[in-house]
Amino acid sequence: MMGGVFVGNCNLLELRKKIDMDRLPRHIAIIMDGNGRWAKKRFLPRTAGHREGMKRVIEIVEVAEKLNIEYLSLFAFSTENWKRPKEEVEGLMKLLVEYIRIELDRIHKNNIKIQTMGDISRLPEFARKEVERAIDLTKDNTKMVLNIGLNYGGRSEIIRGIKNLLEDVRMGKIDIEGVDEDSFKRYLYTSDLPDPDLLIRPSGELRVSNFMLYQIAYTEFWFSDIYWPDFKEEHLYMAIIDYQRRNRRFGGI
Ligand code: IPE
Ligand code: IPE
Ligand code: MG
Repeated sequence: MMGGVFVGNCNLLELRKKIDMDRLPRHIAIIMDGNGRWAKKRFLPRTAGHREGMKRVIEIVEVAEKLNIEYLSLFAFSTENWKRPKEEVEGLMKLLVEYIRIELDRIHKNNIKIQTMGDISRLPEFARKEVERAIDLTKDNTKMVLNIGLNYGGRSEIIRGIKNLLEDVRMGKIDIEGVDEDSFKRYLYTSDLPDPDLLIRPSGELRVSNFMLYQIAYTEFWFSDIYWPDFKEEHLYMAIIDYQRRNRRFGGI
């Protein structure tokens, strides 16, 4: 639908002007999908799509930061993505490391904090170490949180939270009567993040694929047919403009 549409600098500026800077989403989440199909369309290996997708990550982080978005959550690797061929999984892990090596200095200089959601202990050691280095270096940064889903699944996050909660009940640290939505939230990877205001999924799929299941209860969704490697600044602007036209009622009137 929007794929391949050329938006020149002029239109980009026009679009940007339509954004109400006083009503920005605080937290934007993106399911970065369509790398494989982008590559297939060009008779390229799937890894070429992932590589192009990584370039979009670099750009979108910068755009979000310039817009003063406080939290950006990116789905990079799901608990189900291990089902893919070994070579593709390894390629994705190597790209993750490459991304950190290219971008970490700039991210840190721009006061961005990197954090992850998902069980990173299961990542191959070379990738886990690099991720831990990024988390550690940026842990005191305050401008924006870049929250990356790595070996992340919404259901496994909830189960993990319940297990930790039960353990705290057993240890007498919390009593069952005291468990409510706010106290349960502390057991999720996103304990220190507000829920996403806007969830973006490119690639034409109309599903959430196990992403932030607990957190998206009242999130606004923005779907698009374009593949993630074609996702540019203007698409983020379009999503935000659409979001600002919505009437969020949270169950009220
Ligand atoms: C998203 O692109 C990247 C990851 C899931 C890691 P895909 O690789 O899922 O691309 P499609 O959906 O096959 O086009
Ligand atoms: C979701 O995309 C996971 C990531 C973007 C990391 P998938 O390509 O894995 O999702 P499905 O298989 O289309 O649901
Ligand atoms: Mg996909």
